[in-house]
Order: sequence, then structure tokens, then C-alpha cells
Amino acid sequence: MSYTSTMLEGLEYSQAHFPTVIVNDGSVGTLDQATTWISENLSSLKKELSSTGAILFRGFPVTNAESYDAFFSAFNYANFTYKESLSNAVRINHTELVFTANEAPKDVEIFLHNEMAQTPIYPSIISLFCENAAEKGGATALCRSDSVYDQLAQKEPELTDKLERLGIKYTTTMPKEDSPESGQGRSWRSTLGVKSVDQAEDKLRSLDYSWRWGEDGSLVAQTAALPAIKTLEGGRKVFFNQIVAAYQGWKGVKEDPSCALCFGDDSAFPVSFLENVVSIAKSLSFDLEWQDGDVAIVDNHLAMHGRLPYSGERKRKVLVVLGK
Ligand SMILES: [Fe+2]
Repeated sequence: MSYTSTMLEGLEYSQAHFPTVIVNDGSVGTLDQATTWISENLSSLKKELSSTGAILFRGFPVTNAESYDAFFSAFNYANFTYKESLSNAVRINHTELVFTANEAPKDVEIFLHNEMAQTPIYPSIISLFCENAAEKGGATALCRSDSVYDQLAQKEPELTDKLERLGIKYTTTMPKEDSPESGQGRSWRSTLGVKSVDQAEDKLRSLDYSWRWGEDGSLVAQTAALPAIKTLEGGRKVFFNQIVAAYQGWKGVKEDPSCALCFGDDSAFPVSFLENVVSIAKSLSFDLEWQDGDVAIVDNHLAMHGRLPYSGERKRKVLVVLGK
């Protein structure tokens, strides 16, 4: 097809570049043409994604959950279902693949994180589709995880090395009942996909968590040591975790980080280290200002994402698909 070569001229395969933006020049008019174009250029697109960490597709004929499902499916990733995850964000399914992004209220910022890196089960790809941009604000922040690692290793060499060697343990509280008004409000039954206390404990044991039950019926669970810095194929090291989101956004963590985060040997994170992580991530962050119809595909190991607050009457609708 004639658009194949012209449309891909913008690819850089450059690790210094972020994110890649591919704008439909008008030659892809239908959803069928879009999926054909993706299939024909799949290896180039995936090579680009593994270089830069994120690609934004703008101006393609994607208008709703169904067309987004078809667009994303053309990339041939295996499906990572929200059900199989241990995420405690509240979400609603639209198609089998597609669900709403975190339903947290519009004035709540969701800080940078690698998707589900606070659990042992996470997707390798996260894709977002903007059906309706907010009137004001609501950008998705994107931040390169390898750049964060590079800068942190320079600024905090010893603690970065410690983090890489020992990993990190996360402690989270799962409420007794679903509470959609919180960014992390799924109950322990929903989060773990279980029906009873016994089943919950079996599941936690199988995942190597430790836990205690709160008096209000909530569940406080701590992971085993999980990797917080990973080495990817080819040798690139990436900061892969939820430190920024936990420290800035989880309830009570700013005041007392040890209630949610510690090194793999149970030692505490110095606040100065956490502050350095946050300021480095912030300085490297790119705000993707959505336009209706935009689709982003993000390599979950190479880039963190977050959501800025928004306002106005227009209902922001951003949908998500996870892949592996
Ligand atoms: Fe996320």
C-alpha cells in the first residue's frame, strides 16, 4: 500500500527519543486499513517501541472501545486480563480486552508508576486510548524508566545499588468492600479474585506474601522482595517499581514511608532518597496531552505512566488494554 513507506518515515529507533509520535497523514481512512497497516509494519513498530518505550498514534480511525480493541489486537500481543492481575485500582470492562483507566476522581493525581510493579504479576505492555479528552488537564504523564535509573545511579549510587541487590517489599491495605472513590479501592475479594478468608490466605501464601487482618475486615498484605531495578535484554537497566506513586500518592506514605515501602531486607528508605527519586522522575516526565482518538502503546518496562488531575464538564474517557 502506498502509505506504508511514507507513514513510517518518522521512526527513529533512537533510545534518546521519547515518545515516538506517528500521525496519520490521511492515507489510513478506515479501521481495516489501520489494522492492515499495523500488520504490515509490525516489526518496525515493535522495534521502535523497544527503543523509545512509547508510541503515540494520532489521527487514526479509532473512535470507541470496539475499534480500539481491533486496533490494539492488530499488534498481536497476548492478552493480560485485568482479572488475572492483583491490581487494586477500580475499573470497568468495556470489551473483553478494553477497560476504563483508573476510575479515581478527577482531582486526584495518579503518580508515575510501572503498571502493577507492586505485585509479582504485571503486564509487559500497557496501551491507552482517549475516547474523550478532558476539557482541562487530564494528560497522561510518561517517563522513561531507563533514564530515571541512569540519573538515580549517578545521584544515589549506593542506595541505587542496594535497591537493585535487595529489591523492594510493598505493603498495601485492601478494604473489606469495594470503594470506587479511592484510586486504589478494590476490596481484598476483588483484588485477589477470591470469595473467602481461607481462599484469600491460600492465594497470598502461593504468592509469597505475608499478611494480617485489620479489625475493620481489611487485609494488610506485604509482598516478598520484588525487583525494583531490572536489566532488560541488551543490558539496559530500568527503574521498575511503584516507588514514586506510593510515596506521593498512597495514603499516609508521605508521612511514614515505612508503612508501605522497605528494602528487601526490611530496612527503611531514607526520605532524602525518595525525594531524589521523585524529583528525577518529575524532571524526565513528558505530559501527553490527549486528543480524541489518540492511542498510545507503552512498554511497561521502559516507561512509567501517571495521570494528571483534570476539570470541566466534559467527561474524560480514557480506556486501557494490557498485553504480555
Ligand atoms: Fe497505571
